[in-house]
Amino acid sequence: MPVITNIEDLRMLAQKRVPRMFYDYADSGSWTEGTYRANQADFQKILLRQRVAVNMANRSTATKMVGVDVKMPVALAPVGLTGMQHADGEILAARAAEKFGVPFTLSTMSICSIEDIRENTTAPFWFQLYWMRDRDFMERLMARAKAAGCPALVLTLDLQVIGQRHKDLKNGLTAPPKPTLANIFNLMTKPRWCLGMAGTPRHTFRNLVGHAKGVSDMSSLGAWTREQFDPRLDWNDVAWIRQRWGGKLILKGIMDLEDAKLAADSGADALVVSNHGGRQLDGAPSSIAALPAIADAVGSRIEVWMDGGIRSGQDVLKAWALGARGTLIGRAFAYGLGAMGEAGVSAALEIIHQELDLTMAFCGHTRLTDVDRRILLPGTARG
Ligand code: GLV
Repeated sequence: MPVITNIEDLRMLAQKRVPRMFYDYADSGSWTEGTYRANQADFQKILLRQRVAVNMANRSTATKMVGVDVKMPVALAPVGLTGMQHADGEILAARAAEKFGVPFTLSTMSICSIEDIRENTTAPFWFQLYWMRDRDFMERLMARAKAAGCPALVLTLDLQVIGQRHKDLKNGLTAPPKPTLANIFNLMTKPRWCLGMAGTPRHTFRNLVGHAKGVSDMSSLGAWTREQFDPRLDWNDVAWIRQRWGGKLILKGIMDLEDAKLAADSGADALVVSNHGGRQLDGAPSSIAALPAIADAVGSRIEVWMDGGIRSGQDVLKAWALGARGTLIGRAFAYGLGAMGEAGVSAALEIIHQELDLTMAFCGHTRLTDVDRRILLPGTARG
């Protein structure tokens, strides 16, 4: 068993243990993957100012995200097919988040259902929704999330149409995998994964199967999106969701200043500066490059968060310094899950927390409320 000390270790282990089509689903972006790469690369360009001879005792990274106490400004992002990275993946990730002290967000495109999470965890979790053609189905999903005690809804605004991810097409991504020769050969090299899957009944999109009407190919994300996602979403629809939902509302997928202003006007509680992990508009800037202008413009009216490219606590601190009052991690926890199940998600959270805590100390601070852009070397970050 390798010694795990960073998120890259978890990624490499996940690559060995998770069937290729699901590892590739997580670890890829759309088209040239330029935006996907920029998300991480732009974090690296931002440099931190080391300070010395300041009292670094009694540190805390605790804060709040939409009023929820969090041990650090990180929540688990909604990640489709999480339960294909590891058997019962969403349940395990939600448990790890609960034990650590950060929120878990369940994707509509999850394998474990809303009810599965409710029955197998105790902390309140968040639910993510896409704008769909079938309004009744959306209302039923919201009602199920409410019945499960979800206090916050994450509405995805950037997936009315789906960006092309070449690997998913080449791999013939479906959940569960179709028994083709290529898949069978690949699965034979992933005995742990197969054993896990043999021990659970959760093999396909359980929020949808038996709940959504008139979908011909439920196992394929692409087919489902093309049939069910409504390309006509506008801000009146956001208002409709806000009114129906009634709880905390988080708008995900904001990259533009004009959209950020509209999001703040909408009365939502938080917006997430996000290019969907580089999976949608290839050619968009990185999320961390888009963040500062948005935080400056609307940060006093709405909580501004960001996601995309976070692989370390240093990244979380840089995002905080540039105005993000929260971050979402997707791949960083999905790799942990694929590598080692619940223990891997816990490891991912502990790694990021330790890095965040020590980096904050190196920058001369003991709590996040004192951290701002002054910890960044001038000229190395936009904004
Ligand atoms: C779904 O949201 C995806 O990015 O695949």
